[in-house]
Amino acid sequence: MDEVFLNGQFVPRDKAMISPDDRGFLLGDSIYEVIRWYGGYFFDLSGHAARLRRSLHETRIIWDDDSKFEEIAGELIQRNGLGTECAIVYFQVTRGVAPRTHAFPDPPVKPTVYGFARRQSINTLAAEQGVGIWLTPDPRWNRCDIKTTALIANILPYQEAHDRGFAEVCFVRNGVVTEGAHSNIFFVRGETLYTHPENNGILSGITRKNVIAVAKGNGISVAEEAVAADMIPYMNEAFITNTTGEIVPVTRISEQVIGEGTPGTLTRRLQRLLREHIQSLDPNH
Ligand code: PDD
Repeated sequence: MDEVFLNGQFVPRDKAMISPDDRGFLLGDSIYEVIRWYGGYFFDLSGHAARLRRSLHETRIIWDDDSKFEEIAGELIQRNGLGTECAIVYFQVTRGVAPRTHAFPDPPVKPTVYGFARRQSINTLAAEQGVGIWLTPDPRWNRCDIKTTALIANILPYQEAHDRGFAEVCFVRNGVVTEGAHSNIFFVRGETLYTHPENNGILSGITRKNVIAVAKGNGISVAEEAVAADMIPYMNEAFITNTTGEIVPVTRISEQVIGEGTPGTLTRRLQRLLREHIQSLDPNH
């Protein structure tokens, strides 16, 4: 049975009712997380919990039970029989239900807290063969560090990329590559890995952080420096990272073929190193 979590209870999905006055629905006044479950354990659950709490803090959404996040995520997996599967947990907190106005509800209302789990494996074809991504100006706001569900500025360019046959859209702001619509991006030039620094221009990806740690731990030089869009032709390799795809090699950016047009050597190595790191987190390892 498909059971979701809603406001303190686990209920069948078709019994979950959210008010049309919910501010998440009316205003996109809400934040979210996506976490991966590897058939027995979560990947960096504490990293996701820390980012959830940061998103709540930055948006001033108060969820008194935020300490239950980890436990709820685990229970969603168990209740949906996903214990030994590859799955994701989606989790969202909105500012709650109130008559529509821009001001926060006064007096404050309880947030709406929603979560679900579903089976989702890694796209091994993309991980093996690599993908093409489309480059376009970044139309988003200046707080891309907050994981908000207000994603229309991500969705529209993503759909345009999708319609053109690309697997992801990647944004350019002030002449530099920031990130994808739902991924972070890395480049390789020479022996060095480059990725946009952690600031309000990107979401601080959990996969990004772990890739940086794994790279540094294995003696690979990492520069958290943005890459200028006009330097793309000089890059030897590129890849994108996120919770749903891990590391996906990028073989083409718009019309520009990257390197040999196949996944690069360092990208392949990092895929292996990340996989080993993920497997090392298995409590039965
Ligand atoms: N998105 N940048 C953006 C804008 C994202 O939406 C995401 C993740 C990332 C990568 O973060 P992480 O490594 O923590 O998944 C970067 C999720 C997967 C989504 O919206 O479905």
